[in-house]
Amino acid sequence: MHALPAPENFRLHIEPDSGIGWLLFDRAHKRNAFNLAMWRALPEAVETLTQQANNVRVIVLRGLGGHFGAGADIAEFETVRAGRAAEDYDRIHERSLKALEQAHVPTIAMVEGYCLGGGLAIALACDLRISADDALFALPPARLGLAFPLDALARLRTILSAAHAAELLFTGERFDASWALRTGLINAAYPAKELEAHVRKRALRIAANAPLSLKYAKAAIAALWSGRLNEERGTLQALARACYESADYEEGRRAFLERRTPVFRGR
Ligand code: COA
Repeated sequence: MHALPAPENFRLHIEPDSGIGWLLFDRAHKRNAFNLAMWRALPEAVETLTQQANNVRVIVLRGLGGHFGAGADIAEFETVRAGRAAEDYDRIHERSLKALEQAHVPTIAMVEGYCLGGGLAIALACDLRISADDALFALPPARLGLAFPLDALARLRTILSAAHAAELLFTGERFDASWALRTGLINAAYPAKELEAHVRKRALRIAANAPLSLKYAKAAIAALWSGRLNEERGTLQALARACYESADYEEGRRAFLERRTPVFRGR
């Protein structure tokens, strides 16, 4: 495990041998509530990890202290999320989530404890969500008199039915992991003590695959599930061509015929 320089309230670790990059929220005393400075800094944290192209093939996001995140920092709303400042806040919030969503490598939200509001918005901007079986999920904006941001809602739309989204947003109640599993909000749930081992196993499986194939798959899923296939078709074709032309494709074929595990290099 090797630590990288990180913005305040974050920790970044990489495991060069496994290809896993860890993006940790380090504000446990506030249940990892995200203040504006953290929303601003999240893209830099993602970028620091993705720049480690040979060492980071998958990013796992986790909140320290047993909770993924209790949402946006309500204590600072009066100054940073009111009046004219509110629109700037929304822009910074969305820029932050978009940077995470568009990370060039797959991302996994490892969810323990509370995953509320903005915390859930972060998990929704990840590719996979794997949680502890005692995790709790909620979208409380209606309890605060707020509107859940439209772009975050658009991400929810690719995952939940309208009825389940309405259930979350209308009630603001906390839903447990079995509800989240049933509705498709999360990919899997495990006993809290086993969660890290299961997430690590999933992450290792992903990290062992061909990076260019993953990059194509991630971009294709994003384009298809958001209805942007026509706009993105050219980009996706180029990403598919890069797979065909890669040394990794040759390595994949050869390794299969030689009955050995392929070693992919992302080129
Ligand atoms: N914003 C700002 N501070 C928060 C916070 C948030 N979203 N969530 C938790 N905190 C702070 C608390 O104010 C408290 O700070 P303090 O120790 O200085 O008083 C600290 O984190 C611990 O929270 P506490 O409520 O004492 O812990 P708990 O385990 O009893 O409850 C929660 C945890 C998350 C259920 C509860 O804090 C909560 O409901 N938070 C708000 C969740 C929310 O509405 N999020 C959506 C925001 S859009």
